[in-house]
Amino acid sequence: MKDGILDPWGSAQIEDYTRLLSQFGMQPFSEILGKVPQPHRLMRRNVIFGHRDYERIVNAMLKKEDFAVMSGFMPSGKAHFGNKMVMEEIIWHQHSGGMAFVAIADMEAHSVRGTPWEKCTETGIEEYILNIIALGLKEENSVIYFQSKSMAVRNLAFELGIESNLSELKGIYGFSGETSASHILSVLVQTADILHPELEEFGGPKPVIVPVGPDQDPHLRLTRDLAMRTRLFALEDRGSLIRIRSRKDPELLKPLSEHFEAFKLYEGHLDVFNLTYSEVDEITREFEVENGGTGFILPSSTYHRFMTGLTGGKMSSSNPESYIALNEDPEEGYRKIMRAKTGGRVTEEEQKKLGGVPEDCSVYEMLLFHLIEDDSRVAEIYEECRGGRRLCGRCKKETAEILKEFLKDLAEKREAARENLKNYNIIM
Ligand code: TRP
Ligand code: SF4
Repeated sequence: MKDGILDPWGSAQIEDYTRLLSQFGMQPFSEILGKVPQPHRLMRRNVIFGHRDYERIVNAMLKKEDFAVMSGFMPSGKAHFGNKMVMEEIIWHQHSGGMAFVAIADMEAHSVRGTPWEKCTETGIEEYILNIIALGLKEENSVIYFQSKSMAVRNLAFELGIESNLSELKGIYGFSGETSASHILSVLVQTADILHPELEEFGGPKPVIVPVGPDQDPHLRLTRDLAMRTRLFALEDRGSLIRIRSRKDPELLKPLSEHFEAFKLYEGHLDVFNLTYSEVDEITREFEVENGGTGFILPSSTYHRFMTGLTGGKMSSSNPESYIALNEDPEEGYRKIMRAKTGGRVTEEEQKKLGGVPEDCSVYEMLLFHLIEDDSRVAEIYEECRGGRRLCGRCKKETAEILKEFLKDLAEKREAARENLKNYNIIM
């Protein structure tokens, strides 16, 4: 709710999220929503509230240029409806023309959570891979991989480690002298997850969108920094000219200059005239890749609101009552909704008089985030609840019913996915 205006897409925490945006220099998603072709439900409803450089992805979609979507899942516990948001975002971008990369973060789970390798494999398949396929990931234009089995990712992590150091990682993650070296390595592996779709073997530099929760933003900031540090050149728009600075080897400026018509060559930089920034950027990037540089484009990201727990507090994997798993038995899912904390009043009478508080209701949240596709129907439920014309008992039953059907259907699709698994490109 902002400034007391009632908003079906609002939540009690929305102000905290707005603060988060300005604090870390992310952009509000609402500013770009109007440019997104057929935006996803989570975008339309302000569940995706922030982004970095999403214009780049919108442009690629509109011009039908190459781009990739990538995100990762730790195979240390059950996949739940919070993970479903990321899965849907990957799928939506894939269906919008992107190449999809799905990481099963077994190195992270093994080093940070102590999950044994066999467990990582089993959980990776049963909880994450089968569900993302059941939800609609197509076999063409997709790569699903376990971190530990991707040589491209492991090698790139090593390479990116050269551009970082312990003081920087301590500053970002609060690592101490006691932090295990493999935990530190797992952070570099995640930066490699994000950047490896831009390697030559996957078609070279391209915009990459990384849908995540805001807790993952430190990884994105680090990845963007490391990507920049691998570049051979840095560009600067000076209005009347584009200045290209050499970051590694000034000797390369001369052969690069031969790709331009109007330029002036100096000791450590090159000034280019009569071309736009993006024209110079493209020529420079191509030259860079041919000369052993990465040419990495900084990854874009989107941030979605967290789901609150069914029990009221945070959704936590250590409290099964607080979430619904994607592999949940449909009847158990039904029961969890019936037991969930709502934004209802103490008595029916009071509810009719004062109305409920959907912003504080985990049942409404399930409807808003997941269970109803039609925006006007969600807005209607919001109004009914607010106006005291909707009572929690019936509302929960209705929601539980929809959820039960959803879980049944998903279970069937998982079994179909299992049959079809061999047609997917899975590195495991
Ligand atoms: N660290 C992420 C998590 O805890 C998982 C992850 C691994 C990831 N690699 C990634 C997320 C790459 C986004 C991009 O959930
Ligand atoms: Fe939540 Fe429905 Fe009760 Fe409103 S009526 S508070 S949406 S359970």
